[in-house]
Amino acid sequence: MDRRQFLRYAAAVSATPLLSGCGGPARRIVSQDGLLELSLTARILARVDEPTELLTYNAQSPGPILEAQAGDTVRLTLINRLETPTNLHYHGLHISPKIDDVFLEVPPGERHTYEFQIPTNHPAMTGWYHPHYHLNVAPQVFGGLAGALIIRGDLDDIPELQQADEALLVLQDFEATPTTPHALGRRWGREGTLQLANGQRNPVVPVSQNGLLRLRLINASASRIYQLRLQDHPWFLMATDRGAIAAPNALDTLVLAPGERAELLIPGQQEPGDYRLLSLPYDRGIGTMVTSLGTAVDTMAGVVKPRQTTLAILRYQASERSEPLPLPQQLLPVTPLPAPSTTREFVLNHGIDASVKPTGFIINDRSFDMNRVDTQVRLNQVEDWHIVNRASIDHPFHLHTNRFQVIARNGQPASLLAWKDTVGIKGNESVTIRVRFEDFVGRTVYHCHILDHEDQGMMGIVEIL
Ligand code: C2O
Ligand code: CU
Ligand code: CU
Repeated sequence: MDRRQFLRYAAAVSATPLLSGCGGPARRIVSQDGLLELSLTARILARVDEPTELLTYNAQSPGPILEAQAGDTVRLTLINRLETPTNLHYHGLHISPKIDDVFLEVPPGERHTYEFQIPTNHPAMTGWYHPHYHLNVAPQVFGGLAGALIIRGDLDDIPELQQADEALLVLQDFEATPTTPHALGRRWGREGTLQLANGQRNPVVPVSQNGLLRLRLINASASRIYQLRLQDHPWFLMATDRGAIAAPNALDTLVLAPGERAELLIPGQQEPGDYRLLSLPYDRGIGTMVTSLGTAVDTMAGVVKPRQTTLAILRYQASERSEPLPLPQQLLPVTPLPAPSTTREFVLNHGIDASVKPTGFIINDRSFDMNRVDTQVRLNQVEDWHIVNRASIDHPFHLHTNRFQVIARNGQPASLLAWKDTVGIKGNESVTIRVRFEDFVGRTVYHCHILDHEDQGMMGIVEIL
């Protein structure tokens, strides 16, 4: 460990009270001498506190924070002590789909070792890991199986960021007493009444006075879309799913769909005190339907009335700094992808695909079939994917393996150039994404990240040739 790594490590350790999750303090596992080696045991944990039952990695939910550098090797053994098959997906990592393989099955009682190298040019980013075994994804993620995956790189060398404090909040929602969701909960995507950050109610996130806080947020919920605001306090977007944007960008509210991540910079220059990170009600197109159900909702597992909640408290801490630490002027350039050589359309809807599933969630009129390739693309080609949501509810779209840039929304050019892998799409909206299929051939997937929708067929296979 060099001095810089040591300082980061020390900062991470001193932040552990903040990072303690359900079932004990969340450990941070940092790569040593280029190797991140660990095993993750998935199993059920019964608890006295709510939620009364959790699915955990190494007895924690969220699971341990994994942290590595671009170029490092990862050797991770997943041990399945659940009662259902599972596997692991590295959401945000640009690695071969032959390794990050959603078709792999790790049956109960068995194990699998994932070994790969993180590309040396991998961007610094906040990613996460979660199960991706088709049909079990929503129940397993909603049960608590998720963890953060931090990649360090060039971005971390920016002087202001080296001096910044760091914190991470994994956002998950749970049922107080987990039970089988109501049919409507599965249809709309199950949500829980408990909104926890790092497995806690209202954890405190310290910010040093005159300092700068780099806050990473991960939406690890199965279906919940967060609309977040830092009450009475400025914050600046600095990174999206796949890493830095060009310069910090002042934000009011931040909408994060399941699977999306953001990194924020928060300057400690307000009146010292406590500031609340609020989760505001967000209507993902089911608001009227939920309201019309009245009090019946209270007995429907997985269906929740929207309400405002405090997720975390930002708390000022005295510091030695007399001069405010400025925001970095520049972060990293985001080069626009060149014009596409092919344009395709993907229509998201609810409907009937008699050949595969009697009812459900479809892309281009078809429900997911693991033996069918839906789209073939060429390595190194740039494509525009026009994604049309014909349904009245939100369907956040996620592509595995490769990152993309959002080019347009409802025909209007996108205002921010950024690297993404998941994009929120509201009911009846359309979004155009631009992607270059880089480095890896093989079969990978795209899907709605409302995980009940994915399990019910809103997923397709793209083969990179
Ligand atoms: Cu976060 Cu296909 O998943
Ligand atoms: Cu993914
Ligand atoms: Cu969906």
